[in-house]
Amino acid sequence: MKESNKPFDTLVKNIDNLLAPCLAQDWPNLSVERAEGCYVYGSDGRQYLDFLAGFGACNVGHNHPRVVAAAKAQMSKMIHTAMGVTNYEPLLYLADELGQVMPGSANVFFFGNSGTEAVDGAIKLARYYTKRRGIIAFFGGFHGRSLGATSVGSSKAKYRTGYGSLLADVYFAQFPYPFRSATPENPETCSQSALDELLRLFEYVIEPEEVAALLVEPIQGEGGYIIPPQSWLVELRKICDQHGILLIFDEVQTGFGRTGGWFAADAFDVQPDIFAVAKAIANGFPLGATVARAEIMKAWGPVSHGTTCGGNPVSCAAALAVLEVIRKENLLENARKQGTYMLDKLRELQRKAPIIGDVRGLGLMTATEFIKPDTDKEPNTEVVRRILQIALDKGLLLYPCGHWNQTIRLIPALNVTQDQIDEGMKIFTEAVFEAQK
Ligand SMILES: Cc1ncc(COP(=O)(O)O)c(C=O)c1O
Repeated sequence: MKESNKPFDTLVKNIDNLLAPCLAQDWPNLSVERAEGCYVYGSDGRQYLDFLAGFGACNVGHNHPRVVAAAKAQMSKMIHTAMGVTNYEPLLYLADELGQVMPGSANVFFFGNSGTEAVDGAIKLARYYTKRRGIIAFFGGFHGRSLGATSVGSSKAKYRTGYGSLLADVYFAQFPYPFRSATPENPETCSQSALDELLRLFEYVIEPEEVAALLVEPIQGEGGYIIPPQSWLVELRKICDQHGILLIFDEVQTGFGRTGGWFAADAFDVQPDIFAVAKAIANGFPLGATVARAEIMKAWGPVSHGTTCGGNPVSCAAALAVLEVIRKENLLENARKQGTYMLDKLRELQRKAPIIGDVRGLGLMTATEFIKPDTDKEPNTEVVRRILQIALDKGLLLYPCGHWNQTIRLIPALNVTQDQIDEGMKIFTEAVFEAQK
């Protein structure tokens, strides 16, 4: 594949001179050659069971043959033209098909390239439509890396540091975190205290009539796989309705079957006004979308927003194949079934491992939070680091999340089998026991 006669190893050793450190210096920097289904194959000749699925982008498994075939077929016809100037089949078929699986009546699309852009678009659309300035986001949330998306994120202060002024008129309210609340056994209490804080913002900081949107991940991803009580999301919806505020769900990580329904909005039975979706939409091909019901989206007049490569024909063709695979292979059902199975196994492990503070999940959006035993739930970043490395050495690829990187997400592709979950859980269990010694 390469023109150069330099061995790949030489380039890897020189990576710091080739790539920005913010890109190149992440753990574990594993060199890989190919990936298939639930496995990635390292340049070291080893097979790794992948419980990260490309940061949750490869929900139908790596290189699913149906997705590869659809992308190849589209590539041989047309890779790129200019959306708007030209129309093409995959774009409009995708809008039509996706509209049928989006919850509620959100079925008009702006296609971009990524989750970040989908969120930026959602913020722009909300301000444009409401003619209001305020955006309220939630502590611990993560929405991407552009200046706009960085401004509404608060999973780690270091993500916001060094960039001067961020977007104005962004405010933060509490996201209910049952495990770390004063009453973990009663999530409704932490839901109420989070709502009280939001209402205090309205009283002391910005009047609701000036707020364009509440922006929320229905389950926080990067922030730690935190599942809020359903009642909290229901109340957010009511508050928005009361004050003419738009509710934006960032479903970039929760979407496309990850939680066992098409979207988390289905699981919580709460409909936002605007969705941001990306990641698994095209199983790794760059694609994202801001989605809203017609009344809102139709206010976004010509040239008010735009893109060059967003809605790329190859990505759209891949996305159509993803929808077909999720349906034909019953992957929503499999996500629920295997997710329940994995959660049971994790709970079993929790009973034997005092370093595990909490296990939680919805569908196959599953995670384990680690604490220092005999403390008041002190986050255990060090043990997580050890577990990740031991698991990798044994052939399981995992990645952390959470404000202190104290949580490990376990998010295999949605077509993972029970045998593969067993294989992963065997390694994870060994790693937990070895790390807690
Ligand atoms: C909830 C959420 N929103 C937005 C983003 C940003 O998406 P992207 O990296 O595709 O720009 C991410 C990425 O992890 C995410 O998890």
